[in-house]
Amino acid sequence: MRLVGKVAIVTGAARGIGRATALRFSAEGARVVLADRDREALAATAATAGPAEAVLARPCDVARAAEVEALVAAAVDRFGRIDILVNNAGYGHRGTVEQTSEAEWDALMATNVKGVFLCSRAVLPAMRRQGGGTIVNVASTVSFIGIPERAAYVASKGAVAALTRAMAVDHAKEGIRVVAVAPGTVATDYYDRVVAGSPDPDGLRRMLAARQLIGRAGTPEEIANAILFLASDEASFCVGTILLVDGGMVVQ
Ligand SMILES: NC(=O)c1ccc[n+]([C@@H]2O[C@H](COP(=O)([O-])OP(=O)(O)OC[C@H]3O[C@@H](n4cnc5c(N)ncnc54)[C@H](O)[C@@H]3O)[C@@H](O)[C@H]2O)c1
Repeated sequence: MRLVGKVAIVTGAARGIGRATALRFSAEGARVVLADRDREALAATAATAGPAEAVLARPCDVARAAEVEALVAAAVDRFGRIDILVNNAGYGHRGTVEQTSEAEWDALMATNVKGVFLCSRAVLPAMRRQGGGTIVNVASTVSFIGIPERAAYVASKGAVAALTRAMAVDHAKEGIRVVAVAPGTVATDYYDRVVAGSPDPDGLRRMLAARQLIGRAGTPEEIANAILFLASDEASFCVGTILLVDGGMVVQ
């Protein structure tokens, strides 16, 4: 019960890493605010996320400032404080720069980078009023390395890592720790969509597993474990930390 008394917002909480994180936070005693732009999946996840009095589900597109401000206002209204923000909402797009349209680039950056900016900006006043808080961004191994045909995604996760460092520097003295987790390949709906969209799904699945030294993709729960650590008081000396949790993808 490492998060008793804490209030946490998790974006992209309807499925995948965000869902596993919200469920784990709830099991550790937090009151959780689940935000996602997919209303149906959000409602289904929220129904399993703990006692109704400790869960708030809020449809929200993190790329839209007004929706983000309303999310944070609703969280403060309901629970009175915000201790943790997990900036998890994000997605990938297949393509080199030549294969990426301007609209695809703008939409991806709006979710993956601007969303982190908007959500962080919105929670900072509440965290400052309380005397502290923790923001955990979900970066990626591609914050550190290039991979083929994911130009916009790789650029966006590089920006998330850079923004993590910038915010860590700006807010450490206010007691607000800004950190990130950098997952390797994780078997989520996103991963399933990538595999299903390939002309050779079995071959791609084998290739994605082989990228990790341990020969398999990670689970959402393995990433949630790391996010829990970073968000908890056990990580009190982690400031600007970007924690690789990647089965040995980047070390090779
Ligand atoms: N799966 C992987 O291999 C992997 C690896 C490294 C990093 N990541 C990162 O982890 C995060 C979660 O990925 P996942 O694999 O769990 O994906 P997922 O597709 O399984 O879940 C992502 C959730 O985010 C929501 N979402 C997307 N855009 C949104 C927006 N603008 N506003 C609100 N909600 C939005 C989706 O509706 C979905 O419920 C992403 O930031 C992703 O880039 C994933």
